[in-house]
Amino acid sequence: MLSKVITISQQKGGTGKTTLAVHLAMAFIKYHNLKVAIIDTDPQGSLGKWFMIRTEKKVSNENLTFKTASLWGAQYESKTLKNDHDIVIIDTPPKIESDARPSIEAADLVLIPMAASHVDFWATGAIVEIAKKANKKILAQINRSSKRSKLIDKTKDFIKSLDLESTQTIIGNRQIYTSSMGEGKTAVEKQRKGNAVDEIKKLSDQILNQLN
Ligand SMILES: Nc1ncnc2c1ncn2[C@@H]1O[C@H](COP(=O)(O)OP(=O)(O)OP(=O)(O)O)[C@@H](O)[C@H]1O
Ligand SMILES: [Mg+2]
Repeated sequence: MLSKVITISQQKGGTGKTTLAVHLAMAFIKYHNLKVAIIDTDPQGSLGKWFMIRTEKKVSNENLTFKTASLWGAQYESKTLKNDHDIVIIDTPPKIESDARPSIEAADLVLIPMAASHVDFWATGAIVEIAKKANKKILAQINRSSKRSKLIDKTKDFIKSLDLESTQTIIGNRQIYTSSMGEGKTAVEKQRKGNAVDEIKKLSDQILNQLN
């Protein structure tokens, strides 16, 4: 068992926390043969809805465990789940400033999604500070952005200015991420090859390297 915890966190809503949580989970299972647990700490329950649709449609949940918890509960829950899972992914709600700590404390790696957009930059400082104070390994993840966007260089500069590392994979703005989730699936289950599959697979490789 690897027994590692990844917390996906970002103050700003809609940056792709839940999308990345499920896509990484399924990539770890599919391409790395790992046992994965996902914990939904968001009262919106998007992750839970996804899992429910999945289960109703009888999509395979082999090697996948789903739990809900409060942000505090996630600390305990992830400790327990670590015992019999390779990776535990904690999906967090937006606007968590003061309650972020327990879910960050639980993490081996904090993944912070952001778009190549100034609006996302402005929202990112608080969570970075909390994760740094907790002495956690942090990776910024550029999501929903084109590699060719003029803002990519600015985004990379911004990440550097926070003294952060980012993953080497930019996740594109692709409809398959959204449409697959509506069916309780992920892009890696809907497609055998393609841009989304390529980038998610690469990202899962890189994150595992960072965890090892
Ligand atoms: N790479 C992407 N390409 C296209 N659409 C995306 C991408 N990432 C996320 N989305 C879409 O953006 C919206 C927000 O994504 P998601 O729910 O994953 O964000 P979140 O950070 O979990 O939001 P919240 O803060 O509300 O929990 C969703 O409609 C999702 O399908
Ligand atoms: Mg979410």
